[in-house]
Amino acid sequence: MDLQTRIQLNNGVQMPVLGLGVFLSKDGEETYNAVRWALEAGYRHIDTAAVYGNEESVGRAIRDSGIPREELFVTTKLWNTRIRAHEEEQAFAESLRKLQMDYVDLYLIHWPVREEQGYVRAWSKMEAFNKQGRAKAIGVSNYHVHHLQDLLAVADVPPALNQVECHPELTQVELSDFCREKGIAFEPWSPLGRGKLLENETLKDIAKAHGKTTAQVILRWGLQRGFVNIPKSVHKERIEQNAQLFDFALSQGEMERIFALNKNERVGSDPETFNF
Ligand code: A2P
Repeated sequence: MDLQTRIQLNNGVQMPVLGLGVFLSKDGEETYNAVRWALEAGYRHIDTAAVYGNEESVGRAIRDSGIPREELFVTTKLWNTRIRAHEEEQAFAESLRKLQMDYVDLYLIHWPVREEQGYVRAWSKMEAFNKQGRAKAIGVSNYHVHHLQDLLAVADVPPALNQVECHPELTQVELSDFCREKGIAFEPWSPLGRGKLLENETLKDIAKAHGKTTAQVILRWGLQRGFVNIPKSVHKERIEQNAQLFDFALSQGEMERIFALNKNERVGSDPETFNF
């Protein structure tokens, strides 16, 4: 496994196991530089969203890199208010325009909008984008088992992936097992717990044993679980560091010590109660 390793999604699309996340990366130079540095370091996968407000900077950085579009994997996401307003087509067209792309590799429903069962209703629009070739794969984010069950009951195209909060204090064993059974790839967001896990003593201890950082240990744990990882950083050294995950391996015992840190504790909103 290395930085160019890809997993195959349930529709045959190949997705790099590591990408750069740009949540909370400011539009303009901050996001532009982060994406340029990541591409220079060998990343070929970028994860953004309409609501992050930085699709234009992502698109500009990708275009300026000169890397052929087909070598890259770009994800963006459909925002909640656009689902409630039945504006899925406008929202998707806007994202493509800002990214300066005629397709994305993966388009996700960002949150399971409850009103009018938006988390199920919007899926037919997603399927249309997929059939048109404007989204090579389609998936969801922040879906729990019951959301996925409702969706799977009516979907023509099953979701390719579910992106949810997951890190050593929220290990998501049940949800990730369900996804694996159903052929849905699993992608943690906030893998570092927004940074708060970096000082955890167990993780520091394991990191020391490997001559690695705690961030690298957490990301490696995700990779060994078979997940796609999208760490966010706007710092060049950290972007490079977060990609150096392929020259060491965690033992079964170390994996278990990390699983034992679970507290079912979130750093972000709960998909059952979110109010945005
Ligand atoms: P920054 O962008 O300033 O580097 P998460 O992915 O869990 O949301 O965590 C992201 C946070 O962790 C960001 O605040 C990011 O800050 C920081 N971060 C990312 N990679 C590293 C790293 N290798 N070492 C320390 N902090 C990191």
